[in-house]
Amino acid sequence: MKMTIARFDPETGEESRYETFDLPELDRATVLQGLMYVYDNVDSTLGFSFNCRYKNCGLCGLTIDGRPHLACLTPLVDGTVVEPLHNLPVLRDLIIDRRDLFAALRTLTAFIPEPADSNCDAVIHEPAERAVYMQCVECLVCMASCPEYQHGDSAFAGPMVFVKLMQLHLDPRDAANRREQARQLGVEICLECAGCACPSNIPIRKGAIAGLLATDNR
Ligand code: SF4
Ligand code: SF4
Ligand code: FES
Repeated sequence: MKMTIARFDPETGEESRYETFDLPELDRATVLQGLMYVYDNVDSTLGFSFNCRYKNCGLCGLTIDGRPHLACLTPLVDGTVVEPLHNLPVLRDLIIDRRDLFAALRTLTAFIPEPADSNCDAVIHEPAERAVYMQCVECLVCMASCPEYQHGDSAFAGPMVFVKLMQLHLDPRDAANRREQARQLGVEICLECAGCACPSNIPIRKGAIAGLLATDNR
């Protein structure tokens, strides 16, 4: 079977290109296993990211046959074409640069600052709904599938950030107004959109974004 992979080496100064590899028939292999085969047997300079090998680390997000998905969840078929996630800067081959995105999250205070009188024994009662949004593994598949998100555009933060804000909105320890923060980060653009893709089945548009757009007191 054949597998075509986008290659990019910033040190050459050349544009990205595609390279097609011949692989043996790999029984029930995933796209990630195909990449591992190429790395182990054909070209150990191939750059790609992974860790857990099944849906937990969020590192193997790729554009596979034109659609963003996790490589460890996608069956490998003859003729598969693999590219890095779209909408994000590429460091090398299939590896995207996450640094700006996570640095931006810090500036958004997308975390709960530690209170001066923190009590480690306090029992936190959080809504069960929050557990759904805590399934986010930060794979960035939603960012790559969003037609509005552009890396570096501060006017629209993108779906993963909205999921983070919904996690905080539902956290009883969080005192910030996350709905207002989401509005300032462009969430109202989503009113016109059907929804985003998430391999963890997080209801981004109908759950997180709808919750941030709501005007009730919840
Ligand atoms: S609902 Fe919003 S975040 Fe999701 S894909 Fe549409 S515009 Fe992007
Ligand atoms: S919301 Fe889903 S698609 Fe987006 S980063 Fe989290 S796990 Fe990935
Ligand atoms: S290798 Fe960890 S999510 Fe795919």
